[in-house]
Amino acid sequence: MYGNRNASGGGTRPAGGSTPTADGTARQHRRKITAPALQARKGGQPIAMVTAYDYTMARLMDRAGVDILLVGDSLGMVVQGRSSTIPVTLEEACYHTRAVARGAEYAHVVGDMPFMSFQVSATQAVQSAGKLVKDGMAESVKLEGGEDVAEHVSRIVRAGIPVMGHVGLTPQSVHALGGYRVQGKGQSAAERIVADAIALEQAGAYAIVLEAMPPDAAAEVTEAVSVPTIGIGAGAGCDGQVLVCYDMLGMTVGHNPKFAKHFAEVGDQIHTAVQDYVREVRDGSFPGPEHCYRTNESRSEKKKLAVV
Ligand code: KIV
Repeated sequence: MYGNRNASGGGTRPAGGSTPTADGTARQHRRKITAPALQARKGGQPIAMVTAYDYTMARLMDRAGVDILLVGDSLGMVVQGRSSTIPVTLEEACYHTRAVARGAEYAHVVGDMPFMSFQVSATQAVQSAGKLVKDGMAESVKLEGGEDVAEHVSRIVRAGIPVMGHVGLTPQSVHALGGYRVQGKGQSAAERIVADAIALEQAGAYAIVLEAMPPDAAAEVTEAVSVPTIGIGAGAGCDGQVLVCYDMLGMTVGHNPKFAKHFAEVGDQIHTAVQDYVREVRDGSFPGPEHCYRTNESRSEKKKLAVV
């Protein structure tokens, strides 16, 4: 399903090679990951993408080796506490993408195009994508939709901006879809997603997100296009995976989607840490002497002792 993992252009080694160190471990020389490098990973080493919305999280994820940091419009829900992604503005997307870009030394930074920042016309789409790159420091943009937005994708690509597509469950269309429902169930529904993905590929998209569909539908799409597919709730048959950072770290507030594996329980750790902090502040055990600056007096005392 992934094709030949050792085929040229794919390969299983991270970009940049490695040098053996004295203790026998290999130190990776990482290079900044680009859209063409990601496109070349079709059928090769699976792509690991996560969302990030701020500098600190971006830096942690980047150092841990992710390939792509997506500044998703999911920020409307997980950062702003809204009930959908629809109210997110282009300015807000730029603000968060800039913060993430500052923390991304190696990972490729994708800025998500908010609802109504690209649907109106191809010209509007190019202008909004340009703003995400110029003001937001994005290295490529992602937008939701298939055949309907193919012309917009093509115009953005012709303006020199790489585009990642997004098909299946497209949360900006929640009202039209009748809720956050799994897509591509049944052959004709799967075929519609395949047609959307092919239209995006033909328009010049360098990768395509497949959201919330049965694994066989995602595998069918992956087979049908020559650019990498990146799945979320779409099974293992994609060329990569993406998760919302708060979901994978166990910090989700409210409903935890079935596909969102917790790789840690950071939410519980934060809860315990903050409880400990509150207790120590209240009982006076924090701050201790080791958390305090020395006075001039104690420094001159130290000097005197050194002379003796
Ligand atoms: O906005 C987002 O976080 C996304 C991912 C879930 C793919 O679009």
